[in-house]
Amino acid sequence: MIVAIDGPAASGKGTLAQRLANTLNFAYLDTGSLYRAVGLATLRAGDDPSHEPHAVKAAQSIDLNMFYPHELRSEEAGIAASKVAFLPKVRAVLLEFQRSFATNPPPGKSGVIMDGRDIGTVVCPSATAKIFVTADLQVRVDRRVKELRDKGETVIENRVRADMEIRDARDKDRSVSPLTPANDAWILDTSNLDADAAFAQAREFVSAKMLEKSL
Ligand code: DC
Repeated sequence: MIVAIDGPAASGKGTLAQRLANTLNFAYLDTGSLYRAVGLATLRAGDDPSHEPHAVKAAQSIDLNMFYPHELRSEEAGIAASKVAFLPKVRAVLLEFQRSFATNPPPGKSGVIMDGRDIGTVVCPSATAKIFVTADLQVRVDRRVKELRDKGETVIENRVRADMEIRDARDKDRSVSPLTPANDAWILDTSNLDADAAFAQAREFVSAKMLEKSL
């Protein structure tokens, strides 16, 4: 049983996926963290994340335990991630990693939930349930600003907005695996929903899909 959750940055998909995974006892993979780890590893090696051979080398030896969670969640990692995510050969290496996780979940788990940009379209096109989580740009900017301020960072809202627009454009316009809902994805717009309301709706949708599959 695979649940695919896709959507743009700060749409709320990560929180939602994590909560669904805990509730359903599913294994969870945040695939954005793979791209973030590759981006950071490339930077730490003194290389340019946009240079394909260097980024591919980092992807081939990727290990999520190489970095602390706060390092992976940093803006530096997010910007580097969106650059390496643009490169087809990096995506090919990470595709294998993600498919292997989807087909071999850790023991004791009843299924897998993966979130990212192309889970429903490319990584797991036959997923049982696909959700595309989205929200208006300004709502996503407000969420990101709050998240950064809560971490004690000094934030210039216009800069966050500009970064998010650049990242959205990179995600949507790339030739390989662009950010787009799968034809059979359910669109969950969280612009006017808090985390609890989004979770309640998503849980109902996933339960219905699981029931459908078991019949
Ligand atoms: O969701 P996030 O902000 O952690 O993702 C970081 C970057 O990785 C973002 O620019 C999109 C990219 N990404 C991707 O291209 N495909 C995925 N499946 C997951 C993330």
